[in-house]
Amino acid sequence: MNMHLFIVSVLTVLLAMSFPFAISEVLEAFTKCKEFFYKEQPPVISGILETRSRNNHYKIICQKYHKMYKFATFYNTENRIPVFSAYKYTGQSTPFKRPRIPWMVEPQLDPPVDDMTLPYANQAISEDYNNIRDHVNRGHLFPCGHAADEVTANSTFTLTNIVPQKISFNAGSWNRMENEIKDIMNKYCYDNNEVLAHVLTGAIPGKSKLNERVNVPSYLWTAFCCYNRTGNSWVSQAYWAPNVGEDKNKVKTINKTSLQKLQEFLSQQLMTKVQLFNNNCAKKHTTN
Ligand SMILES: *[C@@H]1O[C@H](CO)[C@@H](O)[C@H](O)[C@H]1NC(C)=O
Ligand SMILES: *[C@@H]1O[C@H](CO)[C@@H](O)[C@H](O)[C@H]1NC(C)=O
Ligand SMILES: *[C@@H]1O[C@H](CO)[C@@H](O)[C@H](O)[C@H]1NC(C)=O
Repeated sequence: MNMHLFIVSVLTVLLAMSFPFAISEVLEAFTKCKEFFYKEQPPVISGILETRSRNNHYKIICQKYHKMYKFATFYNTENRIPVFSAYKYTGQSTPFKRPRIPWMVEPQLDPPVDDMTLPYANQAISEDYNNIRDHVNRGHLFPCGHAADEVTANSTFTLTNIVPQKISFNAGSWNRMENEIKDIMNKYCYDNNEVLAHVLTGAIPGKSKLNERVNVPSYLWTAFCCYNRTGNSWVSQAYWAPNVGEDKNKVKTINKTSLQKLQEFLSQQLMTKVQLFNNNCAKKHTTN
């Protein structure tokens, strides 16, 4: 190895050790991480996702960790929260503990700091979440508990996959729903004897801000689409719930709903046409 290369590698390693950076890819399209979408088709969010211009405040992130693409995120740099994360649920062959890993930021979302810009103007940083008076914590869209293995679980700890979520909601009904759909997917969702479901989880921007920077979403939503090997058909399930605190002593349940109803709800909330899973997961493949 020549000396220059050696020094560069050592520096890279040192840098990687001192700053928790997610070395992902901020791209013009989801092409490199289209595998995380049902039929490799990102959702339709008219006027936002497909006509996204080069310099607007929506960014496409192919979330890369340990040199592998792990999931995909559509990020709003003005709200400093993701619109959604898309991932594949593939079950868990070997159990792992929730990693204790420093929160990562996405260097490619912000210009180099010596550009005379404020650092991290385009994304949330861990410190934004530090004020406990807000009663929110870091809510994963791709939850660590749905990761296939420890490396993938680690990859979910990037702030581009996080929204401010009411603590009691995150630990309460939302957590129970995540566990419930995990059980359902493990039981029914298969592709050639391997567990497989495509999941989309997102947040609807709200009216308040954390640390005067990070939008606190009004709702969180999720949906999965998979082939039900018991029923021999494509199936989907959807859920949404307001981002509000809940009473520990009153067990709240998030009701299951249809993909159709979720699409209607999202279209209404985002004031544009929204179609998830190529708009036909739940339908039989008909020719029209
Ligand atoms: C996950 O992150 C933790 C904390 O940084 C680290 O100790 C562990 O080795 C990582 N695991 C993998 C599989 O990368
Ligand atoms: C899968 O099909 C079985 C048999 O029809 C049905 O009981 C079950 O609810 C279906 N699962 C899902 C997630 O729709
Ligand atoms: C959930 O479903 C139950 C039973 O159908 C219903 O009583 C309840 O009002 C629903 N909750 C919400 C938040 O829609």
